[in-house]
Amino acid sequence: MTTTAQPPERVAERLLRASAEHEWDADTALDWDTPLLEDAWYAPPELLTLYGTDLWRRMDHRQRIALSRSEAAGLMNAGLWTELILMQLLSRYVAGRDFADSRSRYALTEIGEEVRHSLMFSRAAERLDGGGHGTGVPWSRVLGVTTPALGRGPGAFAAILTVEEVNDYWQREAMRDERVQPFIRQVCRLHVADEARHLGFARSELLRAVDGLPAPRLELHRETAGIAMALVCSRHFTDPRIYRAVGLDPREAQRQARRNPHHRHNLLRFGEKPVAFLTEAGMIGPRQRHWWRRAGLMP
Ligand SMILES: [Fe+2]
Ligand SMILES: [Fe+2]
Repeated sequence: MTTTAQPPERVAERLLRASAEHEWDADTALDWDTPLLEDAWYAPPELLTLYGTDLWRRMDHRQRIALSRSEAAGLMNAGLWTELILMQLLSRYVAGRDFADSRSRYALTEIGEEVRHSLMFSRAAERLDGGGHGTGVPWSRVLGVTTPALGRGPGAFAAILTVEEVNDYWQREAMRDERVQPFIRQVCRLHVADEARHLGFARSELLRAVDGLPAPRLELHRETAGIAMALVCSRHFTDPRIYRAVGLDPREAQRQARRNPHHRHNLLRFGEKPVAFLTEAGMIGPRQRHWWRRAGLMP
């Protein structure tokens, strides 16, 4: 394995110092009155699930902008939903170990940061689509309860890491894109800065958790992480509510999005980093590849 692992205590201490330097508050860090510009995109158009499809070709510019607004709001909702699960997984992680060391303190710090992200996503979703719903993805209610109850150890950190990497890729593209609303770019910039630390922690904890794990238990963690990703990860991009909100037939839109080579290519780009890391760390074995392919994150 070429991944070099620093002792997790040292990683946690470094991350705690970095977190203390980057403290912010969702109410004040963002200019909530930034006007929404009439002609600006809410997401880079090339990242939209319907980009380049027949439905897309039939839309005029205003409809495409409206779709970008709905897809951005959908990602805020999906982001908040995953934050709720991550916070529970991190709480369970702390509950099962020494409360009084740097790794537990960092996990608690990360929970605090996920709370401010959730507050930011909640307000942003309300501004973009008026709120009124969580996520419309099938299974999300069941998974919202079962994942925190069952997820632990390397399987939990693999799921945390993948969800954060996928979200991170989308947000980095949006934050750099001058065609995108300044408001969206602000949200993405604030989130991405914190997530870099969270990813460092997830990688460090995952490497420690797989180290010396007996083969049958490792296989179980690989399997649960793969199933969770197949059921959740890419589906949030094609939440039927996103399409219904802009007057599209949700089934037809979903069908076209899932077959869309642009969208499929984007999912592969989002998955490239976490899949490479998890494969190298031994968390994706030959028997799990089909789950990761089904999630759209692996070729
Ligand atoms: Fe977050
Ligand atoms: Fe995070």
